[in-house]
Amino acid sequence: MRVVVSVGGSVLAPDLDPDRVAAYAAALDEAVEAGHEIGVVVGGGPVAREYIEAARELDTTEVELDRLGIGVTHLNARLLRAALDAPSARTDGYEASVEAMAAGRIPVMGGVAPGQTTDAVAAALAEDARADLLLFATSVDGVYDVDPTADGEAVRFDELTPGELVDVVAPMSRSAGASAPVDLLAAKLVERAGLRALVVDGIDPETVRRAIVDGEFDGTEIR
Ligand code: UTP
Repeated sequence: MRVVVSVGGSVLAPDLDPDRVAAYAAALDEAVEAGHEIGVVVGGGPVAREYIEAARELDTTEVELDRLGIGVTHLNARLLRAALDAPSARTDGYEASVEAMAAGRIPVMGGVAPGQTTDAVAAALAEDARADLLLFATSVDGVYDVDPTADGEAVRFDELTPGELVDVVAPMSRSAGASAPVDLLAAKLVERAGLRALVVDGIDPETVRRAIVDGEFDGTEIR
């Protein structure tokens, strides 16, 4: 199976813990050993947020803030790559990443352009690579009707169509400090390409290995 994994910075590097990064790399290595083609896109997490918040006080542009975030995603991508056993490639472009996957290497991307997040990068890569599965490893265990951290009554969806995903995340993405588990552009790309996607809690990297290798998951399936 060809799989693109979006690894949120908040699950890969909530702090700079080499054991956590090594455990993530081991889960991805095991998926490759099991015969799967894997592409990875890594987020910026709390460090990106800290840079963005500091720079926002300095009266710079939103695009420049995004560039800072992108820079941190690239640092996290390098960190993960350092821990992988499987041959990897830190690429900046979709085409190079698709080629790397076809050649049996794990491309590890970060952000590519201002105005979006790495969720959208992962969705575009999944479409470009004609991936069988797009796996969002995030800090929530699926897609809810409202933000579960703000509303105790929030209900999780076990399954959504891509169109339903767009409808659910669109209102969440409008608010500041967006609470959407998957960003709106990513949802639209999933819809456009008709991708099969899973949103799972990626805090434990075993979740990622199990979803890819064993086909078992606890989260929201988009198909
Ligand atoms: P993330 O993809 O990590 O954003 O990119 P996020 O979803 O807010 O954070 P986590 O990791 O899931 O917790 C970090 C920041 O980098 C910029 C954006 O500013 C984003 O908020 N970015 C990232 C871009 O501008 N373009 C990209 O392609 C990727």
